[in-house]
Amino acid sequence: MVSVVTLMRLSRTMPRRQDDDSISTLYIPSTAVFLQELLKFVLCIFKLSSSSSFSPSSTLLSLQAALQPFEVLKLSVPCTLYLLQNNLLYLALTKLDATTYQVTYQLKILTTALFSVAMIPGARERMTRQRWIGLLILTLGVCLAQSSTTTGDEGSKSSTTKDRTIGLICVITASCTSGFAGVYFEMVLKGSKTDLWVRNIQMGLPSVVLGLASVYWKDGSKVSEQGFLHGYTTLVWSVVAVQAAGGLLVAVVVKYADNIMKTFATSFAIILGAAVNAVVGGFRPDGTFAMGAIGVCAATVVYGTGGKKVKGEGETLPIL
Ligand code: C5P
Repeated sequence: MVSVVTLMRLSRTMPRRQDDDSISTLYIPSTAVFLQELLKFVLCIFKLSSSSSFSPSSTLLSLQAALQPFEVLKLSVPCTLYLLQNNLLYLALTKLDATTYQVTYQLKILTTALFSVAMIPGARERMTRQRWIGLLILTLGVCLAQSSTTTGDEGSKSSTTKDRTIGLICVITASCTSGFAGVYFEMVLKGSKTDLWVRNIQMGLPSVVLGLASVYWKDGSKVSEQGFLHGYTTLVWSVVAVQAAGGLLVAVVVKYADNIMKTFATSFAIILGAAVNAVVGGFRPDGTFAMGAIGVCAATVVYGTGGKKVKGEGETLPIL
Protein backbone atom coordinates (compact mmCIF):
# COMPACT_ATOMS: atom_id res chain seq x y z
CA MET A 1 0.00 0.00 0.00
CA VAL A 2 2.80 2.39 0.83
CA SER A 3 4.37 1.94 -2.60
CA VAL A 4 1.04 2.72 -4.26
CA VAL A 5 0.99 6.23 -2.84
CA THR A 6 4.58 6.85 -3.90
CA LEU A 7 3.89 5.51 -7.39
CA MET A 8 0.61 7.44 -7.68
CA ARG A 9 2.26 10.66 -6.61
CA LEU A 10 5.19 10.16 -8.97
CA SER A 11 2.82 9.43 -11.83
CA ARG A 12 1.01 12.73 -11.14
CA THR A 13 4.12 14.86 -10.68
CA MET A 14 6.89 13.40 -12.85
CA PRO A 15 5.57 14.50 -16.26
CA ARG A 16 5.26 18.04 -14.92
CA ARG A 17 8.88 17.98 -13.83
CA GLN A 18 10.10 16.65 -17.17
CA ASP A 19 8.71 19.27 -19.51
CA ASP A 20 6.75 21.72 -17.41
CA ASP A 21 3.54 21.17 -19.40
CA SER A 22 1.10 19.34 -17.18
CA ILE A 23 -1.82 19.53 -19.59
CA SER A 24 -0.12 17.89 -22.53
CA THR A 25 1.72 15.15 -20.61
CA LEU A 26 -0.46 14.10 -17.67
CA TYR A 27 -2.85 11.19 -17.97
CA ILE A 28 -6.51 11.58 -17.00
CA PRO A 29 -6.96 10.05 -13.50
CA SER A 30 -10.55 8.89 -14.06
CA THR A 31 -9.29 6.66 -16.90
CA ALA A 32 -6.76 5.07 -14.52
CA VAL A 33 -9.51 4.40 -11.96
CA PHE A 34 -11.66 2.83 -14.69
CA LEU A 35 -8.78 0.65 -15.95
CA GLN A 36 -7.97 -0.57 -12.44
CA GLU A 37 -11.63 -1.60 -11.99
CA LEU A 38 -11.61 -3.31 -15.40
CA LEU A 39 -8.40 -5.18 -14.57
CA LYS A 40 -9.82 -6.41 -11.25
CA PHE A 41 -13.04 -7.50 -12.97
CA VAL A 42 -11.15 -9.44 -15.65
CA LEU A 43 -8.90 -11.07 -13.02
CA CYS A 44 -11.95 -12.15 -11.00
CA ILE A 45 -13.60 -13.65 -14.10
CA PHE A 46 -10.32 -15.45 -14.78
CA LYS A 47 -10.34 -16.79 -11.21
CA LEU A 48 -13.96 -17.88 -11.60
CA SER A 49 -13.20 -19.64 -14.88
CA SER A 50 -10.26 -21.46 -13.26
CA SER A 51 -12.75 -23.22 -11.01
CA SER A 52 -14.69 -24.36 -14.09
CA SER A 53 -11.52 -25.61 -15.86
CA PHE A 54 -11.42 -22.54 -18.13
CA SER A 55 -14.30 -23.79 -20.24
CA PRO A 56 -16.02 -20.77 -21.89
CA SER A 57 -19.54 -22.18 -21.59
CA SER A 58 -19.27 -23.05 -17.89
CA THR A 59 -17.55 -19.72 -17.19
CA LEU A 60 -20.49 -17.96 -18.85
CA LEU A 61 -22.91 -19.99 -16.77
CA SER A 62 -21.04 -19.18 -13.52
CA LEU A 63 -20.98 -15.53 -14.56
CA GLN A 64 -24.72 -15.52 -15.21
CA ALA A 65 -25.31 -17.14 -11.83
CA ALA A 66 -23.04 -14.59 -10.14
CA LEU A 67 -24.64 -11.54 -11.66
CA GLN A 68 -28.01 -11.67 -9.89
CA PRO A 69 -29.51 -8.16 -10.15
CA PHE A 70 -30.38 -7.80 -6.45
CA GLU A 71 -26.89 -8.89 -5.34
CA VAL A 72 -25.27 -6.56 -7.88
CA LEU A 73 -27.49 -3.72 -6.64
CA LYS A 74 -26.46 -4.44 -3.04
CA LEU A 75 -22.78 -4.27 -3.97
CA SER A 76 -23.21 -1.15 -6.04
CA VAL A 77 -23.22 0.75 -2.69
CA PRO A 78 -19.57 0.04 -1.73
CA CYS A 79 -18.66 0.05 -5.42
CA THR A 80 -19.90 3.64 -5.87
CA LEU A 81 -18.16 4.74 -2.68
CA TYR A 82 -14.86 3.10 -3.67
CA LEU A 83 -15.09 4.69 -7.10
CA LEU A 84 -15.59 8.09 -5.49
CA GLN A 85 -12.77 7.34 -3.02
CA ASN A 86 -10.30 6.31 -5.72
CA ASN A 87 -11.03 9.46 -7.74
CA LEU A 88 -10.82 11.70 -4.64
CA LEU A 89 -7.44 10.23 -3.70
CA TYR A 90 -5.99 11.05 -7.13
CA LEU A 91 -7.23 14.63 -6.75
CA ALA A 92 -5.86 14.86 -3.19
CA LEU A 93 -2.44 13.69 -4.36
CA THR A 94 -2.20 16.60 -6.76
CA LYS A 95 -3.34 19.14 -4.17
CA LEU A 96 -1.41 18.00 -1.08
CA ASP A 97 2.14 17.07 -0.23
CA ALA A 98 2.68 13.36 0.26
CA THR A 99 3.19 13.61 4.04
CA THR A 100 -0.07 15.48 4.70
CA TYR A 101 -1.87 13.06 2.40
CA GLN A 102 -0.47 9.94 4.07
CA VAL A 103 -0.90 11.18 7.62
CA THR A 104 -4.46 12.47 7.11
CA TYR A 105 -5.53 9.28 5.35
CA GLN A 106 -4.70 7.32 8.53
CA LEU A 107 -8.00 8.69 9.85
CA LYS A 108 -9.46 5.67 8.08
CA ILE A 109 -8.23 3.50 10.99
CA LEU A 110 -10.65 5.31 13.28
CA THR A 111 -13.50 5.58 10.75
CA THR A 112 -13.19 1.84 10.11
CA ALA A 113 -13.47 1.11 13.83
CA LEU A 114 -16.40 3.51 14.23
CA PHE A 115 -18.33 2.00 11.33
CA SER A 116 -17.49 -1.52 12.57
CA VAL A 117 -19.00 -0.89 16.00
CA ALA A 118 -21.97 0.90 14.47
CA MET A 119 -22.76 -1.70 11.82
CA ILE A 120 -21.43 -5.12 12.84
CA PRO A 121 -23.45 -6.93 15.49
CA GLY A 122 -21.35 -7.73 18.54
CA ALA A 123 -18.50 -5.46 17.46
CA ARG A 124 -19.44 -2.83 20.05
CA GLU A 125 -19.11 -5.38 22.87
CA ARG A 126 -15.80 -6.64 21.52
CA MET A 127 -14.42 -3.12 21.22
CA THR A 128 -13.28 -2.51 24.77
CA ARG A 129 -11.75 0.72 26.01
CA GLN A 130 -8.32 -0.95 25.79
CA ARG A 131 -8.94 -1.76 22.12
CA TRP A 132 -9.89 1.86 21.37
CA ILE A 133 -6.66 2.96 23.06
CA GLY A 134 -4.80 0.41 20.91
CA LEU A 135 -6.34 1.91 17.77
CA LEU A 136 -5.46 5.45 18.84
CA ILE A 137 -1.85 4.39 19.44
CA LEU A 138 -1.85 2.67 16.04
CA THR A 139 -3.09 5.83 14.30
CA LEU A 140 -0.48 7.92 16.08
CA GLY A 141 2.27 5.39 15.35
CA VAL A 142 1.51 5.18 11.63
CA CYS A 143 1.25 8.96 11.39
CA LEU A 144 4.70 9.34 12.97
CA ALA A 145 6.22 6.66 10.75
CA GLN A 146 4.58 8.13 7.64
CA SER A 147 5.75 11.64 8.39
CA SER A 148 9.30 10.41 8.75
CA THR A 149 9.35 8.12 5.69
CA THR A 150 7.55 10.43 3.28
CA THR A 151 9.36 13.38 1.81
CA GLY A 152 7.69 16.50 0.47
CA ASP A 153 8.14 17.67 -3.09
CA GLU A 154 8.21 20.86 -5.05
CA GLY A 155 4.62 20.40 -6.24
CA SER A 156 3.38 20.74 -2.70
CA LYS A 157 5.30 23.92 -1.98
CA SER A 158 3.46 25.74 -4.75
CA SER A 159 0.02 24.62 -3.57
CA THR A 160 -2.27 27.37 -2.31
CA THR A 161 -4.45 27.38 0.82
CA LYS A 162 -7.44 26.66 -1.43
CA ASP A 163 -5.65 23.65 -2.93
CA ARG A 164 -4.75 22.35 0.51
CA THR A 165 -8.33 22.77 1.73
CA ILE A 166 -9.67 20.89 -1.30
CA GLY A 167 -7.02 18.19 -0.81
CA LEU A 168 -7.85 17.80 2.88
CA ILE A 169 -11.59 17.61 2.20
CA CYS A 170 -10.88 14.91 -0.41
CA VAL A 171 -8.75 12.82 1.99
CA ILE A 172 -11.15 13.18 4.92
CA THR A 173 -14.09 12.18 2.69
CA ALA A 174 -12.04 9.24 1.38
CA SER A 175 -11.29 8.15 4.98
CA CYS A 176 -15.03 8.05 5.67
CA THR A 177 -15.89 6.14 2.48
CA SER A 178 -13.01 3.74 3.19
CA GLY A 179 -14.43 2.93 6.62
CA PHE A 180 -18.04 2.63 5.53
CA ALA A 181 -17.49 0.76 2.25
CA GLY A 182 -15.03 -1.65 3.88
CA VAL A 183 -17.40 -2.55 6.70
CA TYR A 184 -20.39 -2.79 4.32
CA PHE A 185 -18.43 -5.17 2.07
CA GLU A 186 -17.42 -7.23 5.10
CA MET A 187 -21.07 -7.50 6.18
CA VAL A 188 -22.16 -8.65 2.72
CA LEU A 189 -19.25 -11.08 2.46
CA LYS A 190 -19.72 -12.64 5.87
CA GLY A 191 -23.50 -12.46 5.80
CA SER A 192 -23.74 -15.38 3.37
CA LYS A 193 -21.69 -18.26 2.05
CA THR A 194 -21.28 -16.69 -1.39
CA ASP A 195 -17.75 -17.06 -2.74
CA LEU A 196 -15.38 -14.08 -2.44
CA TRP A 197 -14.72 -14.01 -6.21
CA VAL A 198 -18.42 -14.04 -6.96
CA ARG A 199 -18.82 -11.06 -4.59
CA ASN A 200 -15.94 -9.30 -6.32
CA ILE A 201 -17.58 -9.89 -9.70
CA GLN A 202 -20.89 -8.57 -8.36
CA MET A 203 -19.07 -5.46 -7.20
CA GLY A 204 -16.86 -5.33 -10.31
CA LEU A 205 -19.64 -5.02 -12.89
CA PRO A 206 -21.12 -1.76 -11.51
CA SER A 207 -17.57 -0.51 -10.87
CA VAL A 208 -16.65 -0.92 -14.52
CA VAL A 209 -19.91 0.61 -15.79
CA LEU A 210 -19.86 3.54 -13.35
CA GLY A 211 -16.11 3.97 -13.82
CA LEU A 212 -16.58 4.39 -17.58
CA ALA A 213 -19.57 6.68 -17.07
CA SER A 214 -17.54 8.87 -14.72
CA VAL A 215 -14.72 9.15 -17.29
CA TYR A 216 -17.14 10.55 -19.86
CA TRP A 217 -19.14 12.61 -17.39
CA LYS A 218 -16.10 14.23 -15.79
CA ASP A 219 -13.52 14.18 -18.53
CA GLY A 220 -15.44 13.47 -21.75
CA SER A 221 -14.12 16.51 -23.59
CA LYS A 222 -10.52 15.86 -22.50
CA VAL A 223 -10.76 12.23 -23.60
CA SER A 224 -12.12 13.12 -27.04
CA GLU A 225 -9.48 15.83 -27.41
CA GLN A 226 -6.43 13.91 -26.13
CA GLY A 227 -7.43 10.24 -26.34
CA PHE A 228 -8.33 7.73 -23.63
CA LEU A 229 -4.80 6.52 -23.04
CA HIS A 230 -3.15 9.90 -23.34
CA GLY A 231 -0.09 10.20 -21.10
CA TYR A 232 0.07 6.50 -20.22
CA THR A 233 3.62 5.52 -19.41
CA THR A 234 5.00 2.35 -17.82
CA LEU A 235 4.72 4.13 -14.49
CA VAL A 236 1.01 4.84 -14.98
CA TRP A 237 0.35 1.24 -16.02
CA SER A 238 2.25 0.12 -12.90
CA VAL A 239 -0.01 2.31 -10.74
CA VAL A 240 -3.08 0.73 -12.37
CA ALA A 241 -1.72 -2.81 -11.83
CA VAL A 242 -0.59 -2.22 -8.22
CA GLN A 243 -3.92 -0.55 -7.34
CA ALA A 244 -5.87 -3.46 -8.83
CA ALA A 245 -3.74 -6.05 -6.99
CA GLY A 246 -4.04 -4.03 -3.75
CA GLY A 247 -7.83 -3.94 -4.08
CA LEU A 248 -8.06 -7.71 -4.49
CA LEU A 249 -5.71 -8.17 -1.54
CA VAL A 250 -7.97 -5.98 0.59
CA ALA A 251 -10.92 -8.24 -0.28
CA VAL A 252 -8.95 -11.37 0.70
CA VAL A 253 -7.85 -9.83 4.04
CA VAL A 254 -11.43 -8.80 4.83
CA LYS A 255 -12.66 -12.31 4.06
CA TYR A 256 -10.13 -14.13 6.25
CA ALA A 257 -9.84 -11.47 8.97
CA ASP A 258 -11.75 -8.20 9.21
CA ASN A 259 -11.42 -4.53 8.43
CA ILE A 260 -9.77 -3.65 11.73
CA MET A 261 -7.17 -6.38 11.20
CA LYS A 262 -6.68 -4.90 7.72
CA THR A 263 -5.71 -1.57 9.28
CA PHE A 264 -3.09 -3.36 11.43
CA ALA A 265 -1.82 -5.28 8.39
CA THR A 266 -1.42 -2.10 6.31
CA SER A 267 0.28 -0.33 9.22
CA PHE A 268 2.81 -3.16 9.56
CA ALA A 269 3.30 -3.10 5.78
CA ILE A 270 4.24 0.58 6.06
CA ILE A 271 6.81 -0.14 8.80
CA LEU A 272 8.19 -3.20 7.01
CA GLY A 273 8.38 -1.32 3.71
CA ALA A 274 10.42 1.42 5.40
CA ALA A 275 12.66 -1.15 7.11
CA VAL A 276 13.38 -2.83 3.76
CA ASN A 277 14.04 0.58 2.25
CA ALA A 278 16.48 1.27 5.09
CA VAL A 279 18.42 -1.92 4.27
CA VAL A 280 18.39 -1.84 0.48
CA GLY A 281 17.37 1.75 -0.32
CA GLY A 282 18.27 5.25 0.75
CA PHE A 283 15.98 5.62 3.77
CA ARG A 284 17.74 6.56 7.02
CA PRO A 285 15.40 5.85 9.98
CA ASP A 286 15.27 8.65 12.53
CA GLY A 287 13.83 9.00 16.03
CA THR A 288 10.37 9.85 14.71
CA PHE A 289 10.29 6.68 12.64
CA ALA A 290 11.50 4.60 15.60
CA MET A 291 8.76 6.07 17.79
CA GLY A 292 6.20 5.33 15.08
CA ALA A 293 7.38 1.74 14.69
CA ILE A 294 7.34 1.19 18.46
CA GLY A 295 3.85 2.74 18.53
CA VAL A 296 2.55 0.31 15.88
CA CYS A 297 4.01 -2.69 17.74
CA ALA A 298 2.69 -1.45 21.10
CA ALA A 299 -0.74 -0.84 19.57
CA THR A 300 -0.86 -4.45 18.40
CA VAL A 301 -0.15 -5.70 21.92
CA VAL A 302 -2.61 -3.27 23.53
CA TYR A 303 -5.34 -4.13 21.01
CA GLY A 304 -4.58 -7.86 21.00
CA THR A 305 -4.75 -8.23 24.77
CA GLY A 306 -7.79 -5.97 25.13
CA GLY A 307 -10.32 -8.37 23.66
CA LYS A 308 -13.45 -9.71 25.22
CA LYS A 309 -15.04 -12.87 23.89
CA VAL A 310 -18.72 -12.27 23.18
CA LYS A 311 -21.45 -14.71 22.32
CA GLY A 312 -21.65 -15.45 18.60
CA GLU A 313 -18.06 -14.41 17.82
CA GLY A 314 -16.72 -16.06 14.66
CA GLU A 315 -20.19 -16.99 13.43
CA THR A 316 -21.58 -15.95 10.08
CA LEU A 317 -23.09 -12.49 10.29
CA PRO A 318 -26.87 -12.65 10.07
CA ILE A 319 -27.15 -9.46 8.07
CA LEU A 320 -27.37 -8.34 4.42
O1 C5P B 1 -7.76 2.55 1.51
P1 C5P B 1 -8.70 1.42 1.54
O2 C5P B 1 -8.25 0.27 2.37
O3 C5P B 1 -10.13 1.81 1.81
O4 C5P B 1 -8.70 0.90 0.04
C1 C5P B 1 -9.48 -0.15 -0.36
C2 C5P B 1 -9.22 -0.41 -1.84
O5 C5P B 1 -9.57 -1.76 -2.10
C3 C5P B 1 -10.05 0.46 -2.78
O6 C5P B 1 -9.23 0.89 -3.83
C4 C5P B 1 -11.11 -0.48 -3.32
O7 C5P B 1 -11.44 -0.16 -4.65
C5 C5P B 1 -10.42 -1.83 -3.21
N1 C5P B 1 -11.31 -2.96 -2.98
C6 C5P B 1 -11.52 -3.87 -3.99
N2 C5P B 1 -12.33 -4.94 -3.81
C7 C5P B 1 -12.95 -5.13 -2.62
C8 C5P B 1 -12.76 -4.21 -1.57
C9 C5P B 1 -11.91 -3.13 -1.78
O8 C5P B 1 -10.97 -3.71 -5.07
N3 C5P B 1 -13.73 -6.19 -2.49
